[in-house]
Amino acid sequence: MNSDSPKNPPLPKIYVCTNFRSGARASCGERGSRQIFEQLRNLVNERSAEIDVEQIACLGQCGLGPNVRVSGQEIINGVSSDDLPAIVDAAIGAGNGTDGQS
Ligand code: FES
Repeated sequence: MNSDSPKNPPLPKIYVCTNFRSGARASCGERGSRQIFEQLRNLVNERSAEIDVEQIACLGQCGLGPNVRVSGQEIINGVSSDDLPAIVDAAIGAGNGTDGQS
């Protein structure tokens, strides 16, 4: 069965830019995004949330990282560990058609 069928809609996704480049040009990896990625995966697992957390090469806002995007939503800049519960809530909301706020 196709996982994109109406009976099985795709899981919400959280994309974390883990691009690392050294040198003068900023990158999310240089600003700790790989740790953010691991923390997000752990948080999703702890909450048994049905969310895919994926690494992405670049979201095009390199000077503002670490950058994260929930599928269908705006890029979130300057993400820190404190932001992660709200990001997971937003992704859960994306999966059930709400904005994750209650
Ligand atoms: S390096 Fe993260 S948005 Fe480009």
